[in-house]
Amino acid sequence: MFIKGEIEIAPDKSISHRALMISAVAEGTSRIKNFLKAEDCISTMNCLKKLGVDIAEKDGEIIVKGNGLKLKKPSGVLDAGNSGTTVRLLSGILAGQNFATKIIGDESLSKRPMKRIIEPLEKMGAKIKSNNGYLPIEIEGGNLKPINYDSKISSAQVKSCVLFAGLYADGITSFTEPEKSRDHMERMLKSFGAKIEFNKNTVSIKGIAKLHPSDVFIPGDISSAAFFMVATAIVKGSELKIKNVGINPTRTGIIDVLKRMGAKIEIENKREIADELIADIVVKSSELKSTNIERGEIPLLIDEIPIIAVAATQSEGITKITGAKELRVKETDRLKAIVSELKKMGAEISELEDGLIVKGPTKLNGVRVDSYKDHRIAMSLAVASLVAEGNTEILNRECVNISFPEFWNVLKKIKQ
Ligand code: S3P
Repeated sequence: MFIKGEIEIAPDKSISHRALMISAVAEGTSRIKNFLKAEDCISTMNCLKKLGVDIAEKDGEIIVKGNGLKLKKPSGVLDAGNSGTTVRLLSGILAGQNFATKIIGDESLSKRPMKRIIEPLEKMGAKIKSNNGYLPIEIEGGNLKPINYDSKISSAQVKSCVLFAGLYADGITSFTEPEKSRDHMERMLKSFGAKIEFNKNTVSIKGIAKLHPSDVFIPGDISSAAFFMVATAIVKGSELKIKNVGINPTRTGIIDVLKRMGAKIEIENKREIADELIADIVVKSSELKSTNIERGEIPLLIDEIPIIAVAATQSEGITKITGAKELRVKETDRLKAIVSELKKMGAEISELEDGLIVKGPTKLNGVRVDSYKDHRIAMSLAVASLVAEGNTEILNRECVNISFPEFWNVLKKIKQ
């Protein structure tokens, strides 16, 4: 078996969420092309509809009739499902409304920390009740005041939450983080007319702002492409072109790491659409070697660590990943999950408090493994199964619907 072909990848999840939410609070009609129709983004869409935003689909595009900054009080609770991005970003908008809203989520989301957004929003003047820092949370918005927030963690979700709230605060709100996280929010707010400045790890926004509508094109998601990049790199005799992938420099840690490991990766047809870089990525299989990944690089590949662990099982030497404690509070504890499941397949892998150690190369065996209903764990294990001997059974494999509903079909198409 080897991999060959040319594929399109699922549209970017982070950018799809932002396109919906920013369009919702702009004044007028925005059009979103290549929107990701996956469960997480549908959660955002349903919450916005409940808040009175008119969202429809026409000729494959999502048409959002923005309400301006003020939304309507929903009749019931808002359900963010499995989506951390939905609850954290939307909270920034809700903090600016003059009504109270309750947000709930599924079992996984109910275990994820919300103090990180509650703290800055309370500082800005929102009144928030929570289950001790977890969902459900109830946000009573009002007149917000600007803050200069120094975040202890690097997080695009927290940053985007504060920026949304900053739209409603009279004056300049700023957010600083230890390492720069993905900057899609800043770029898109700018293209909708916000007065926003960003350099290095600090971004500032001027409120109270009126946004104008805009047309958005969503590039392919590099975090989804990562599974196919690694699959092609580790399966002998493979070659794959992944078309129209977003290569925003705050997301391309996976390319740097794989190249460091000796992967053959070419970037072709590079261009810019709506302030985001897009390219085709061509990968060929090769012998891989180990690498080290430290704290400073983590935000650039935060969602790719499970799939990098899979690549490391097929690489010569010891790969050490540190500074990645945030993975413990994703859809599942991703450090624990990837270690336990790759171990079942025969990998030499162990957990650090804030990372992983993987010794390779090892032969993997097909066994029954658990995705923990985490889409990125399921897809990582699917890639591991390509180099495993025997059949691999992945429990709850349908959880790929969270970010990449076509994953299993795309995989089938390129396996020769
Ligand atoms: C996201 C940011 C990251 C990432 C998540 C999506 C976003 O989370 O892990 O999948 O869209 O802002 P953090 O910013 O909380 O690390």
